[in-house]
Amino acid sequence: MPQQWVLITGCSTGIGRALVDVCRNFGWGVIATARNLNSLTDLKDGDDLRKIRLDVTNTDSIQSAVSAVEDLPLRALVNNAGYGQMGPLEALRPDELRLQFETNVIGLQVVTNAFLPLIRRRGEGEGRIVHVASVLGRLSIPMAGAYNASKHAVVALAETLRLEIGKQIPVILVEPGAIQSEFRATLKHAWGDLPERVAGTAYQSAIEHYANRREDYAGKHGMGAEDCAVKIFNAMNAEHPPRRVVIGADSFWAQIAHRIIPAPIWEYVLRSMNGIW
Ligand SMILES: NC(=O)c1ccc[n+]([C@@H]2O[C@H](COP(=O)([O-])OP(=O)(O)OC[C@H]3O[C@@H](n4cnc5c(N)ncnc54)[C@H](OP(=O)(O)O)[C@@H]3O)[C@@H](O)[C@H]2O)c1
Repeated sequence: MPQQWVLITGCSTGIGRALVDVCRNFGWGVIATARNLNSLTDLKDGDDLRKIRLDVTNTDSIQSAVSAVEDLPLRALVNNAGYGQMGPLEALRPDELRLQFETNVIGLQVVTNAFLPLIRRRGEGEGRIVHVASVLGRLSIPMAGAYNASKHAVVALAETLRLEIGKQIPVILVEPGAIQSEFRATLKHAWGDLPERVAGTAYQSAIEHYANRREDYAGKHGMGAEDCAVKIFNAMNAEHPPRRVVIGADSFWAQIAHRIIPAPIWEYVLRSMNGIW
């Protein structure tokens, strides 16, 4: 039975799923969580794995998950669950914006507060809290206002939490660029009737552009979820964890460019890249 365990949210696919395998390979016990337990059935059982149902937007589900793992020596929490709500701000429905924040922001903080007492039992400096934000927590792109805002909020929550408890429990902010996962398939599911909603408007070409071009970019050039997971694990496992982990050359260079390129040029480039003419 491992002496250190990590709880990961959103393990059905993508980065969360890859992280389950990486952590187990390095001898950590993993509490793999997902909204739908069936999505975890193919994970190989073992005394280093516990599968728990956890919907980060549901308080009862979070409390049940806490009760189900109280007996384990929990050392770390990785707040990975999240999705992208796309669409121009003008066409965004209030409920779409609310659900984006319920999942990516409020859920993340409620989960953190719920598991903090268990992590505190490890003693000073031992625990780890990891927030998976995005390069879009540091800069914004068009057609993704809800997601941009949610990830900027995650950055602020991580920075604040670090100021408040960082001396006892290191807080690690992860800022990936494009990663190969189910993210873009889920994103198209989440935008629902958006293409019809924007049909005939100035946004139509931008949404078509997004559907045809951006997803190709991630598929061809995005980092593999496993490579991303290794970087998260290394940060979490380090004796002196980094405050920020920028993952992918695209995230690194975009953040530098955003800082040094004059705003009018930056905006021109982003509009052009995103089919807004
Ligand atoms: N892929 C990228 O390019 C990229 C870049 C930067 C940041 N990120 C961030 O990385 C994290 C992981 O995304 P991914 O790329 O691995 O995408 P993914 O393959 O779509 O995985 C997202 C995970 O979040 C889960 N999730 C969504 N809503 C949830 C809820 N209410 N409760 C519990 N779990 C929920 C999903 O579960 P279901 O299967 O039940 O939907 C899924 O397991 C996200 O926070 C994302 O914003 C991704």
